[in-house]
Amino acid sequence: MKIPHLNTKDILEVNDLTKEEILSIFQLASKLKKTRNSGKLLKPLKNKTLAMIFEKNSTRTRVSFEAGMYELGGLAMFLSSNDIQLGRGETFADTAKVLSRYVDGIMIRTDQHSKVVEIAKESSIPVINGLTDDAHPCQALTDYFTIYERGNLEGTNLVYIGDGNNMAHSLLLGAAILGVNITAVCPRGYQPDLHVVETAIEISRKTGSSIAVTTSINDAVINCDYLYTDVWTSMGQEKEAAKRKKAFSKYRITTELMRKCPAHCKVMHCLPAHRGEEIDAEVIDSPQSIVFDQAENRLHLQKALLCALMK
Ligand code: CP
Ligand code: NVA
Repeated sequence: MKIPHLNTKDILEVNDLTKEEILSIFQLASKLKKTRNSGKLLKPLKNKTLAMIFEKNSTRTRVSFEAGMYELGGLAMFLSSNDIQLGRGETFADTAKVLSRYVDGIMIRTDQHSKVVEIAKESSIPVINGLTDDAHPCQALTDYFTIYERGNLEGTNLVYIGDGNNMAHSLLLGAAILGVNITAVCPRGYQPDLHVVETAIEISRKTGSSIAVTTSINDAVINCDYLYTDVWTSMGQEKEAAKRKKAFSKYRITTELMRKCPAHCKVMHCLPAHRGEEIDAEVIDSPQSIVFDQAENRLHLQKALLCALMK
């Protein structure tokens, strides 16, 4: 099994990786998926340990990392910040230094991106961002792996509808690196961070992908191969829920919108989903939806990432 060599210690955002590195991770993920589906498990991370710090809820990230480490022959430790001393004010720097003496890698889900940056700086072991307010690289890498499995990445048209949030940021950067054309359709006041958009445009100069941000849905979906959405209210924004419901009321994946897309267009969502808000139940539960393939692929893609970072 060929384990890719990465030039980065940590994965805090998709653009910590080059196109070649991402494609080699995809190849390894495919291989791990095939061997697992044939009933075999390779154990390249025997005796390795991963600390998983969670300051926010999770189903997919927690379970896929924990099951993934076990399948690779290692062990994952679930550390809710309520239970460890971080929750009582121990610093991120001290936590990073201590964990570096015990384990071989850290996965962290938190709010401020700067916390993940500090953990990475202060630890001597690889750090993986399992979601911050600004980025969700494991999900976006998985999503592009899901598209890669189905055909070409280069020249594929992905339209993201909804909040210009962590998911939008990581998808924009991933698209730019991989040559995917992306249009982010977001209402005024909820567009992706300008710095992220500029970074994506800068990267796209080399790869030729087109990066667009707009408020107008209809034109965007005409040539769309993949239509993606995420919740209107992300974790930590619960107090803004009512305001957001109003702002996003027209930014929805509906059966009517699907009629404007090409027949082959597939629907994606990182999950958890709110049926009847950002997406109609009839769409997410239709044959055009590949949301559970995405969810499954979190396991395979992250196993490849863990091997590349920790082997
Ligand atoms: N998509 C995703 O990250 O799901 P969880 O919040 O359940 O981990
Ligand atoms: N944008 C969502 C993604 C959840 C996987 C959130 O941050 O809550």
